[in-house]
Amino acid sequence: MSDPVEAGRVEGLAVEGVGFQGEGWARLEALGFLSIPHAWPGDVVDVRHGAPRRGRAWAEVVAWRARSPERVDPACADYDRCSGCALRHVALERELAWKASEACAILARYAPSAPPVELDVVDAGVRSGHRARGRFACAVEGGAVRLGLRAITLEREILDLRGCPAQSARFLEVIQALGAALDAAPAVAASLRAVEVRTGADAAALACLAVEADPAAAAALEALATAALAPLGVRVALEIEGEEAAEPPPSLPIALSGWGVTVQAPRTSWVHATPACGEAMVGWVVSRLGGRRRAAALDLCAGVGTVTAHLAQRAARVLAVDADHRGLAALQAAAHEAGAAHVQTRAGRAEVILRKLRAAGERGLEVAVINPMRLPLGAATLEHLAPLGVREIIYLGPAAVSAAKDLEALHGAGYLLQRAAVLNLHPGTAHFMLGLHLRWGDDVDFEIIKG
Ligand SMILES: C[S@@+](CC[C@H](N)C(=O)[O-])C[C@H]1O[C@@H](n2cnc3c(N)ncnc32)[C@H](O)[C@@H]1O
Repeated sequence: MSDPVEAGRVEGLAVEGVGFQGEGWARLEALGFLSIPHAWPGDVVDVRHGAPRRGRAWAEVVAWRARSPERVDPACADYDRCSGCALRHVALERELAWKASEACAILARYAPSAPPVELDVVDAGVRSGHRARGRFACAVEGGAVRLGLRAITLEREILDLRGCPAQSARFLEVIQALGAALDAAPAVAASLRAVEVRTGADAAALACLAVEADPAAAAALEALATAALAPLGVRVALEIEGEEAAEPPPSLPIALSGWGVTVQAPRTSWVHATPACGEAMVGWVVSRLGGRRRAAALDLCAGVGTVTAHLAQRAARVLAVDADHRGLAALQAAAHEAGAAHVQTRAGRAEVILRKLRAAGERGLEVAVINPMRLPLGAATLEHLAPLGVREIIYLGPAAVSAAKDLEALHGAGYLLQRAAVLNLHPGTAHFMLGLHLRWGDDVDFEIIKG
């Protein structure tokens, strides 16, 4: 069979280093860099590769000639082909060491003005069954249904991952029940693009089906999924291509450890994919805040309140800001249930709300926790913090490069880095969160450890 994506083969390639997505790389004079998912320095491999673009081509291992002594059993039957994880082939300690060295390199490159500081490595110690939500694509071929993620092969086909060891037992129960119903009706499954399963407190679960814009096909899928999942206590929602989502969106109870209550998180709101890792992240935030009670705290990009609930124990007033008005309404309701009347919410974009607060004369927001999405907030937003009275910042950046760029901007605005952390929110993958603890220049009383 002809292979349209293959551009060539190389034999006996020695893997030299690890790229920023956790893939192994090797350099060839004629081709430039070859990026090889799941390869590690010390491996010697035969590969097939695609066409080089801007000096780099992706490659797929076709034979192993030697394996690095650092390799371990990934404990996953599909790992050789799956793109979901990138580092299960090395021990957790090795993964963490690699993430720490990446964090240092990113800080040096994108935040050159920040002083070198001590780096904490925060991990929940789980690499299996830790994912409480996930979005699996659906493919139907020759009557066979596959539910899962793309392969690391050059063809990037959808793999069936109904036994994924990273997902929680409840997630797998839901995906397997849905999968069995789809297997029995491949013609109905053909209009399913993807399914997002979210699991929450007390075994609550929600399956949201992304379907083609075909009302009859969507109705058939909804009926099939409801028949399979309702007996398991799973709610079913539809996301029809090109149509607005139903209002209000269905919600799912998520535990807020800070308050001991649940928040009814709307399906459209951001929630942690890996709750145990999220708790470890919150533990680092709390340890950096220390025991001193603050007059007022800002939770910027508060989401549904995972961090807010802990800030509320440590400040007389908490202002939670987020662009997601539905998530904030759920947070406000949870605060009410927890008796936390000192928590207020403001819905809107960070840059707009901070400017308005400044114009309204707000001056007392002593400490800010900032947890944006993957893009930097930018200097124009961050420059409002100091005039609002913010003397201490804990920044939680899901994309390390963006976090380092914001650190550079904060440094320019007068904040000094005290400590940094690799927060391992996605074990087994190349992703990590960069935690940064900063103080306003005049208040620095930490010892800065020169690297
Ligand atoms: C990573 S989540 C934060 C979650 C929360 N801190 C927690 O731990 O549960 C990022 C949040 O940033 C919000 N967001 C993204 N861009 C924003 C902006 N420009 N202004 C305000 N909020 C924003 C999103 O709605 C989302 O809730």
